[in-house]
Amino acid sequence: MNVKKVAVIGGGTMGNGIAHVFAMNGISVNLVETKQAFADRALDTISNNLDRMVKKEKISEDDKTETLGNISIYLDVGEGVEDVDLVVEAVPENFELKKKVWKQADDAAPEHAILASNTSSISITKLAALTSRPESFIGMHFFNPVPVMKMVEVVRGLETIDSVYQTVKETAEHLNKVPVPVNDSPGFVSNRVLMPMINEAIFTVGEGVATPEHVDEVMKLGMAHPMGPLRLADFIGLDVCLDILNVLYDGFKDPKYRPAPLLVKMVDAGKLGNKTGEGFYSYD
Ligand code: 3HC
Repeated sequence: MNVKKVAVIGGGTMGNGIAHVFAMNGISVNLVETKQAFADRALDTISNNLDRMVKKEKISEDDKTETLGNISIYLDVGEGVEDVDLVVEAVPENFELKKKVWKQADDAAPEHAILASNTSSISITKLAALTSRPESFIGMHFFNPVPVMKMVEVVRGLETIDSVYQTVKETAEHLNKVPVPVNDSPGFVSNRVLMPMINEAIFTVGEGVATPEHVDEVMKLGMAHPMGPLRLADFIGLDVCLDILNVLYDGFKDPKYRPAPLLVKMVDAGKLGNKTGEGFYSYD
């Protein structure tokens, strides 16, 4: 199947980035939000990120105009998905919310449509079971910032069929991303490997081994990571990191995934990283 039109449900950090890359690669996007103000904010972010690319001469002003012209706003899930080939859900990591969204999307999406979730931690098999077509359900896990990061983790649920995997793989390639096939398991590969590193970095700070700046310097300058693990944790959101660690801890019943007490305290204090202006670092 050739994907010509997609619905992206949710215009937050991940959703607007996902809409950006589809639209920039010539695919029509129905961007679904709950309120016009949220949709306007998503479009502003996309426009600013496109400006960045124009300034760096990666795309032209015409490309920017064409990309924005490929995006239509919808404030209703049913209307947004009714004529698309692929639905990509990128709403917050709350199972009840995803359940509600997937019920509406499943009822209204065309029979041939592929249903994909950008979830970073919820089981694809469990989300697929919320729909009437688990064989057409798959994980399409993008990375932040979506226009920059080169990889998409393509997560097969228990019942995902080969043709659905193949279409999603080819679609990711069309977006100039490298699709990596992964089977459904807590944290998939990305977060199962990344989150224990972030958690361990937080333990070292909590135990007074080094400051956040020094932990990050070790990993940036000693291991050539583009960002230290604590700066990255702030960037991802400390609440998101905690949620994912809890999924790993519950899923494997293994104490090696126990969230660092300092992480729990910071989330309790509302210090969630970039989005609240404070985490391991302060942000304007
Ligand atoms: N849109 C478009 N372009 C963007 C962008 C955006 N949102 N953000 C950054 N860029 C571009 C910049 O224009 C710049 O382009 P250039 O290479 O042509 O100069 C390039 O990206 C680098 O940006 P900056 O110069 O502003 O800053 P840095 O060099 O510090 O890079 C970074 C920023 C790309 C975020 C880099 O620090 C990085 O790669 N960090 C690691 C990010 C990471 O690990 N992401 C994954 C998080 S985990 C996740 O998302 C999964 C979830 O489940 C938790």
